[in-house]
Amino acid sequence: MLFVFIFVGIIPLYLFSYILLNNYKEKAVTSRFNQMQNQIIMLSNQMLPTGYLTLADVPEIDAEINRVAEIYQGRIVVVNNNLNIVEDTYGLYDDKKYLVSKEVIQSFNGNSSKVHDKENNYLILTQPITHTTEEQKVIVGAIVMNSSTKDIQAILSGMEQRAIIFSVALTMFIIIFAIYFSNKLTKPLTKVVNSIDRLTEGYMEEGVSIKGYYEIEKISDSFNKMINRMQKIENTRQEFVSNVSHELKTPITSIKVLADSLLMQEDTPVELYREFLVDITEEIERENKIINDLLSLVKLNKTAGDMNITSININDLLEQILKRLRPIAKRQNIEMIYESFRPVMAEVDEVKISLAISNLIENAIKYNTPDGWVRVSLNADHKYFFIKISDSGIGIPEEMQDLIFERFFRVDKARSRESGGTGLGLAITKSVVQMHRGAIRVYSKDGEGTTFNLRIPLNYIA
Ligand SMILES: Nc1ncnc2c1ncn2[C@@H]1O[C@H](COP(=O)(O)OP(=O)(O)OP(=O)(O)O)[C@@H](O)[C@H]1O
Ligand SMILES: [Mg+2]
Repeated sequence: MLFVFIFVGIIPLYLFSYILLNNYKEKAVTSRFNQMQNQIIMLSNQMLPTGYLTLADVPEIDAEINRVAEIYQGRIVVVNNNLNIVEDTYGLYDDKKYLVSKEVIQSFNGNSSKVHDKENNYLILTQPITHTTEEQKVIVGAIVMNSSTKDIQAILSGMEQRAIIFSVALTMFIIIFAIYFSNKLTKPLTKVVNSIDRLTEGYMEEGVSIKGYYEIEKISDSFNKMINRMQKIENTRQEFVSNVSHELKTPITSIKVLADSLLMQEDTPVELYREFLVDITEEIERENKIINDLLSLVKLNKTAGDMNITSININDLLEQILKRLRPIAKRQNIEMIYESFRPVMAEVDEVKISLAISNLIENAIKYNTPDGWVRVSLNADHKYFFIKISDSGIGIPEEMQDLIFERFFRVDKARSRESGGTGLGLAITKSVVQMHRGAIRVYSKDGEGTTFNLRIPLNYIA
């Protein structure tokens, strides 16, 4: 993090100063050459009418040339078309000498030349002197002009110095800034990490509260939400485990009590043995049912992926279930009514859906009143089929209607125990319905009866 800051901050800074300085240098040199060119043109214009180039003595022009050379801290050499040196501000040649150089020859071909002698800090400009008449252009001489770049160099090194001071200051500022901000940014993240570590160690109840930037606060919010959710899952898991062990222990305890009391008594009559053994068998059956229900619930949750989907006739399925349950209803003189509004074919897992519907109808019989009724009806639209199971039973108090789908939940423990209930039936039904992407609703009034509405898609949605 820190390095990213430094990298992003400092590299562009140095790059920028480098480009800026280089750019200035180039501009300065070009503009110096331009100025020199203008000066040469001005000088040539003065020379042409005076015969200066044909070695006439014109002191004003000599003075002017010297003045210009001084301004540019350099040297000016004027050559005529015989390559005679007419003037040299350094006075190293007299009039009789010749100056023959590549640049001078070139200028007689009409080309000027610009040379930057970086080693000695000089610019050298060689330029032809052209005499333009109405008919033609004649090159009558050449001027070689030097100019020192020391002044440009001085400005440049001043700028460089300032850039270095500025860069160093800014670098320091960026580093301090980066340290400060990366601390500020990483501190809350470290806190989150620590919280996650503590969570792994098992301290679930602790949330994190982090004040900081919006994003970081959001992270801590989501983190807390996740912890809450995990906490809830953990609680239900614990509750489930304790419910399971309790439920499994109850029949065993009864069996133990029954067996113990038989063992304690001496000369127990055979009839008592029989009676107690019948009770013991019932408890074993109960234990068996709990274990089977639990297994099917666990299996449902675990193999949510493997559904055995086939297209089946729901009318037939309902009739089969009712046929199986009618004898049980008859024992309590409960009337079973079945109505179907249309034939329904649907893609479902037959075993699972049959289990779910059976549970609902069994409940409707179990929690009914003597001489009551159970009504099962089937309907469908283009997307779903609907099964409605109503009874004239004892009903479910409103505040408990949300809870009945929980595992092991029973409204009246004593009553459902009597009828062998474990409180797993509706949990199984609900998870089957969810696996079919359906919905289940309960409507009930205490003491008047209950209606369960099922809605299942006709076509299975994977
Ligand atoms: N039709 C109904 N009328 C009144 N109460 C009902 C009805 N269906 C369910 N209940 C209540 O909801 C509770 C949970 O039902 P569920 O089917 O899950 O368990 P159970 O019937 O007690 O046991 P299991 O079905 O596992 O043998 C029941 O104990 C009962 O109190
Ligand atoms: Mg039940």
